[in-house]
Amino acid sequence: MSAPSVVPGPIPSDAETADDVVNHFYYPPDPFKAVRGEGVYLYGEDGKGYLDASSGTFNLTLGYSHPEVVATIREQAAELIHVTSKFQSRAVNSLVGALSEVAPAGLTRVHLKSSSGSDANEAAIKIAQHHTGNPDVISLFRGHLGQTMAMINASGAAFRRAPFPAQLPGVVHVPDPYCVRCFYKQERETCGLLCVERINDFIDFASSGRVAAVILEPISGNGGNVVPPDGYLEALRALCDERGILLIFDEIQTGFGRTGQMFASDTFGVSPHMLTFGKGLGGSGMPIAGLLTEERLTGLEGHHINSTFGANVLASSVAVKTLEIIRRPGFLENVRAVGAHVMDRLGEMAGRYGFIGDIRGRGLMIGMEINDADGNPDAAFTNHLASLGMDHGLLLRTSLYGFGNVLKVRPPLVMTMEEADVMCDRLDRLFGDAR
Ligand SMILES: Cc1ncc(COP(=O)(O)O)c(C=O)c1O
Repeated sequence: MSAPSVVPGPIPSDAETADDVVNHFYYPPDPFKAVRGEGVYLYGEDGKGYLDASSGTFNLTLGYSHPEVVATIREQAAELIHVTSKFQSRAVNSLVGALSEVAPAGLTRVHLKSSSGSDANEAAIKIAQHHTGNPDVISLFRGHLGQTMAMINASGAAFRRAPFPAQLPGVVHVPDPYCVRCFYKQERETCGLLCVERINDFIDFASSGRVAAVILEPISGNGGNVVPPDGYLEALRALCDERGILLIFDEIQTGFGRTGQMFASDTFGVSPHMLTFGKGLGGSGMPIAGLLTEERLTGLEGHHINSTFGANVLASSVAVKTLEIIRRPGFLENVRAVGAHVMDRLGEMAGRYGFIGDIRGRGLMIGMEINDADGNPDAAFTNHLASLGMDHGLLLRTSLYGFGNVLKVRPPLVMTMEEADVMCDRLDRLFGDAR
């Protein structure tokens, strides 16, 4: 990143509103300044409501400033905000209890001492290395597992590693199940899940021969909303079991109702040996992350996977409230129904706008490919659409991962049918304008 072109002066006392303050940011911030949020809408200084089709950073399960989250924060803050994670507290104990109730089959233990998703993934890999005594990790092309030094190496995109001369060894990246643009140039009907079978070759010829874990997102979020074909996750689980490798699902994006079930693990009917979570558990944006693991994987002492802000009491109280709301009758049904409706409307738009390619997803984790006239990924036009979205009152995100041509549609899970129609109407007008 180049240095700011303007040398900043001293910060004035009214720094919050001063134009000069942006020159003190390490990176140039977006000109949009958020003022407040409510439900699926974010409001800027212009007073206009932008419908957030990407739930902040895919983490606002309950939308902006959900009233029950706000009330929980008020109550909990008055009682206790922080205590060392060495001690128990009402909020953290309730969260451990609630998480163990909703955990996929076999995952009995909860670890909450992480501050972020990257941190939780590192903790899972530490547990896998400690348990197996093996160093290597297998991950998928295009996967995004976080931004710490270890996680940029584990993630499946060279651009993340390019600025840094030092790399951490021990990760073998393998082709992802991106059927629409299959690495092995196969057709799904006849491929026999070659992308799983070939992982054996990577283990035998490209790894150190000692693999601790396979880590992947059940639906690759930043990688292009890549939904695995039927049988993929089962086959991967079988391969891991056969070879004594631990399977870790990174459910940091897919967890807590995003795919229409509590976890993608439930949506696909496959349990991993460990599952990491973060993002959506914070309801309206409280920072919380951690992992679920099988009983047999306990044994690594807590101080090896610990963080000052881990098991944060305030965030845990909100997480308990978030889980309570997700588990209310009708919540997940609404996610599935609204998601199906949005898919239908996008499908209808695809018939009218030739640049819309494959539309894929589960629940409210939807992605749409944007292609050129020859059907090839058109990243420039995708980015153009995302930025033009603001003019249509829409917040849209793309990704540098993969081919950069997937518009992500991942609104807050509290979205109503009416709001879904507003979002789709705005998308329709945006596409019409941009054509
Ligand atoms: C699938 C996935 N894993 C891990 C992470 C890293 O989480 P965090 O940003 O909280 O470190 C992210 C963040 O975008 C993510 O989407």
